[in-house]
Amino acid sequence: MRLAVLSDIHGNSAALEAVLDDIGRHGIAQVVNLGDCFSGPLDGEGTARLLADTPMLTVSGNHDRLLVDRPASAMGLWESWVIEDLSDATLDWVRSLPLTATLGELFLCHGTPGSDDENWLDHRGPDQRLVSRDLDATEERLNGVSASVILCGHTHTPRSIRLPGGQRIVNPGSVGCPAYLDTRMEPHFVHQTGAPDARYAILESVAGDWMVTLRSVPYDAEPMIAMAEAKGASSWAQALRHGWLA
Ligand SMILES: [Fe+2]
Repeated sequence: MRLAVLSDIHGNSAALEAVLDDIGRHGIAQVVNLGDCFSGPLDGEGTARLLADTPMLTVSGNHDRLLVDRPASAMGLWESWVIEDLSDATLDWVRSLPLTATLGELFLCHGTPGSDDENWLDHRGPDQRLVSRDLDATEERLNGVSASVILCGHTHTPRSIRLPGGQRIVNPGSVGCPAYLDTRMEPHFVHQTGAPDARYAILESVAGDWMVTLRSVPYDAEPMIAMAEAKGASSWAQALRHGWLA
């Protein structure tokens, strides 16, 4: 069995297209999606059309929930950029998404098994950058999930780890948002992967175990950069161009 794992597309239809092409080149038929599909200043409904054409088991991310749990007037910046662009059918699909899902040996969640808005493998360190969690804090967040492979997103940081008991936890990174600036609290939080590429993961069952490949896919981000600039989202434009924020 082989499958591709996507997360945190954030409305970047160009990155999603490049990733789906790469998945096709590998002859992989099964895809799962860990949420945060649309929010941001990019191509929300174009992303929705691509997702509708490629059926995949999808769980809801915190930014998907934020599109449907409050009126538009109460939405944050990332949702306010895209909410008017999304069709009723797309929003109905978002409402239908589960918080977690199980697929054979795999458990899917966006943040952790207990929360769609909690960083798992990495968290905000004292210098306001992401640092790896220690083993105890990582195991605590299993919340009783015993699946042999657990898939999570949310941090936009590709990681593949194993716990001493053998469980794997895989974060494929973000398809569409390689760096971001969080200005909701002081001091501001900067997250950057250091490359503009689209990220995803391939899982392959081999001899009773799983082989994990973290993919880094280059693509033409110019149309997305133009969309970000048109909405005045200069940090998004910089993130998409470089994967670094000044
Ligand atoms: Fe995200």
